[in-house]
Amino acid sequence: MSYQAEFEQALRDPEGFWGEAAGAIRWTRAPQQILDDSRAPFYRWYPDGELNTADNCLDRHVEAGRGDVTALIHDSPVTNSQQRYSYVQLRDAVAKFAGVIRNQGVEKGDRVIIYMPMIPEAVIAMLACARIGAVHSVVFGGFAGAELAKRIDDATPKLVLSASCGIEPTRIVEYKPLLDRGLELAEHKVERCVIFQRETQRCELTPGRDLDWTDALADAEPADCVPVAATDPLYILYTSGTTGKPKGVVRDNGGHAVAMHYSMRAVYGLGQDDVFWTASDVGWVVGHSYIVYAPLLLGCTSVMYEGKPVGTPDAGAFFRVIAEHKVDVFFTAPTAFRAIKKVDPNGELATQYDVSSLRALFLAGEHTDPDTARWAGEKLNVPVVDHWWQTETAWPMSANPLGIEQLDVPPGSAGRPVPGYDTHVLAPDGEEVSHGEMGDICVRLPLPPGCFPTLWQNDERYESSYLEQFPGYYRSGDAGYLDADGNLWVMSRVDDIINVAGHRLSTGMIEEVIAAHADVAEAAVVGAADADKGQLPVAMVVLKSSATRGGQEIVAELVAHVRDQIGPVAAFRHVAIVERLPKTRSGKIVRATLREIADGKDWTTPATIDDPAILTEIEAQLGHIGYAKRRAS
Ligand code: COA
Ligand code: AMP
Repeated sequence: MSYQAEFEQALRDPEGFWGEAAGAIRWTRAPQQILDDSRAPFYRWYPDGELNTADNCLDRHVEAGRGDVTALIHDSPVTNSQQRYSYVQLRDAVAKFAGVIRNQGVEKGDRVIIYMPMIPEAVIAMLACARIGAVHSVVFGGFAGAELAKRIDDATPKLVLSASCGIEPTRIVEYKPLLDRGLELAEHKVERCVIFQRETQRCELTPGRDLDWTDALADAEPADCVPVAATDPLYILYTSGTTGKPKGVVRDNGGHAVAMHYSMRAVYGLGQDDVFWTASDVGWVVGHSYIVYAPLLLGCTSVMYEGKPVGTPDAGAFFRVIAEHKVDVFFTAPTAFRAIKKVDPNGELATQYDVSSLRALFLAGEHTDPDTARWAGEKLNVPVVDHWWQTETAWPMSANPLGIEQLDVPPGSAGRPVPGYDTHVLAPDGEEVSHGEMGDICVRLPLPPGCFPTLWQNDERYESSYLEQFPGYYRSGDAGYLDADGNLWVMSRVDDIINVAGHRLSTGMIEEVIAAHADVAEAAVVGAADADKGQLPVAMVVLKSSATRGGQEIVAELVAHVRDQIGPVAAFRHVAIVERLPKTRSGKIVRATLREIADGKDWTTPATIDDPAILTEIEAQLGHIGYAKRRAS
């Protein structure tokens, strides 16, 4: 079927389309009803279906005679090791670890937080939760203890799973102090942690609270798969909203399994005999979907890479992994290729490897600049697909769907709406804009299977954040346009979310940490364009008149606080001390103008501003710290 025909079919008859797609999944009770719209705008897919996601990821393939196929390859240049799990080995490891979790009193519906580095045990932990119907919530290792605490308080887990350390190219990340801090700060008390000791650096366990992973396995019996309702949560994944309180995106079991499976074929063009590599982290949605669930639901081989694009050991690392594991399709964030290009502009290291197994490169997480896309495409000699999606959706909303048909998509565009997404660009009054005109990118409800049915125990925030502004639509929070050929161009965020090296962060969360400093009166943080990381947070800080210490001392403390409270992932280094913040007469900070100034763009003084002179002063201050360089200069 052509893209157009498949897209239209999904639009015309969503229940027929997704009813048929559900046939790719093994149900313990096949759904009789495909879509429940009785509580719109809260839609439920496959409301009477029952299944187990881990069963579909593992047992099912073993029973189909594919037990010896490699399910997971862990490639870890930081420990100089590789590990392979066949489907049968992974199933057995997951069943055994599910027994460990169950021994700790975790039952269907209970939450388990997973705070782990990129090791196979993290995947095993996720699938073990799924096996017994527990709800996992993975917290990215680059977040500090205070962020972990926020997630513990929202998810109220019975158990936390962690490891002794993560390994960054220049340092060992000790998880135990971060974990202890998170548990201490959280109001919700967790009584039990299971900790995986890595040989690189072990940690001291807290008596009475922590169990050693290996010891716990010795006492456990394998646990069977527990059937759950299709609408039961599989996981909660926290993502940045506009405030410091993260949003708990809920993923269901049934819709997710169907959508993951569908996307592997339709978007990525993969089959069971293929090797798929997604270079991301299991702490992000990209890792959930395309390191863990989708490849295993399909039954192909997934590569899990514990390393970086450069520095582990060099800028040839990605090419080495593709060559060594004969990767068919590769997915990463554009920032990774920018890092490689910077170190090895001519791609000399790339030429040392035979990457001819590769069929396509997919990029997402941020806008792909055509230059990077061209460079990567040339070095890998494959089509480069920029595709767009979010934690909320779990799978691509727009792409060049190579598995259906390779479309003619211009560089810079994120492709066409994927079948299932009825995408529209709306003006503030809710009217559809014309082709080529910018607006809010929205998707008409219901969202397809796999997308979040709500936020964890917060239907209200779900409605107010995503559904209220344009009734009948999901508001993505991204702005852009559709061109006359139907290609989507994703241009910017409409809110205060920024994208730092493909990591989604809220400026609000950074502002909260800065504002808590005793010498700070108020602060504004914006994302400024950065050639390597896409964007970097830049703070404008007003000190209290009572502040007696020098600005530089306070700046150093603020940088350290953000690293300590949010984590190194915020890459926060740039602070300008300013006299006042520019506000409208009604007291709102003129953020859009601040963003333009920090980006070095030409800016105009908003008509509503209270004190226009402050803008030029801010431009000067930002100039001192390396920002606000107008393009013309
Ligand atoms: N645990 C602890 N610290 C971490 C971490 C982790 N899992 N991941 C990153 N950090 C630290 C880094 O060590 C660095 O610390 P530093 O300030 O001491 O140098 C800091 O956080 C910033 O890291 P980052 O900006 O990610 O740079 P990097 O060089 O570590 O990695 C990339 C570069 C491209 C590999 C990485 O940014 C990346 O994978 N980005 C894509 C993210 C992604 O997959 N997004 C989803 C859409 S595809
Ligand atoms: P996350 O929820 O962390 O996956 O981040 C989602 C956000 O990243 C989106 O809302 C966009 O702002 C941005 N993003 C993801 N993919 C793309 C893309 N292909 N082009 C532009 N922005 C993107």
